[in-house]
Amino acid sequence: MARNPFIAGNWKMNMTVPEGTELVSALIAEKDDISPVEVGVCPPFTALHAIGSLLKEKGSAIKLGGQDVFGDGTGAFTGMISIPMLTDCGCEYVILGHSERRGRFGTTPDWLTPSLQALFADNDETVNLKASIVMPSPLKPIICVGETIDERKTGDTDSIVRSQVEAALKGLDKSKLGEVVLAYEPVWAIGTGETCDSAEAQRVCKLIRDTVAGIDSSAAEAMRVQYGGSVKPDNAEELLGQPDIDGALVGGASLKADSFAAIVRAAKKTA
Ligand code: 13P
Repeated sequence: MARNPFIAGNWKMNMTVPEGTELVSALIAEKDDISPVEVGVCPPFTALHAIGSLLKEKGSAIKLGGQDVFGDGTGAFTGMISIPMLTDCGCEYVILGHSERRGRFGTTPDWLTPSLQALFADNDETVNLKASIVMPSPLKPIICVGETIDERKTGDTDSIVRSQVEAALKGLDKSKLGEVVLAYEPVWAIGTGETCDSAEAQRVCKLIRDTVAGIDSSAAEAMRVQYGGSVKPDNAEELLGQPDIDGALVGGASLKADSFAAIVRAAKKTA
């Protein structure tokens, strides 16, 4: 089955409204025909409304995503963001269980003390709870999985990735499972400049698809599996050319219009 590649930019804790507006305006100005590639940006919460309005005003096909979500209702949950808040801004996607949200960092600056790191406390159970509230909503989840360098060194990559996938998807509506995007993001490759080589990224992305097939084979065929971790214009084509890699979740290189657009063009070449 042909799966449309999906290139999404995870801006993380970057971009004020003017900066994000400038970046997205530059992306919109790229007039290349990129079909069938789907492109998305995931700004910080503070920029979602402005970027969503800009995309709508320009009639852009670029999709909008949140970087996390907490609940579906309203209530006394200071600092948290709900599904209606995201959809109201124009979001179609939401990232869930990013390794940073799980407190698993590729790089840690000096100021990120253990008590600050403890604020990032997602785990397999909370990722599954969040996925189960997102699935019946208009949002589609981009669920991130991946091993740390220690887990890789001890030979636990496959068991960690398989158990994260199974835990995240547990009990979800099988009829919509094909709409879920899974992102394989080896933690050691995030923000480090160290990319997983394409053969290994393909192997793990296939393992992810095979794991989903154990739940529902047609969902596994339909589902996009992205690779993320130091994706750059010069390695994108090689990674995206792999049969089980259907796109990329891009951090640092999504913050500049020229590098993000080059990755999108690489996806178009391999589509
Ligand atoms: P980098 O592309 O900066 O390594 O980040 C990847 C990532 O974490 C995307 O979610």
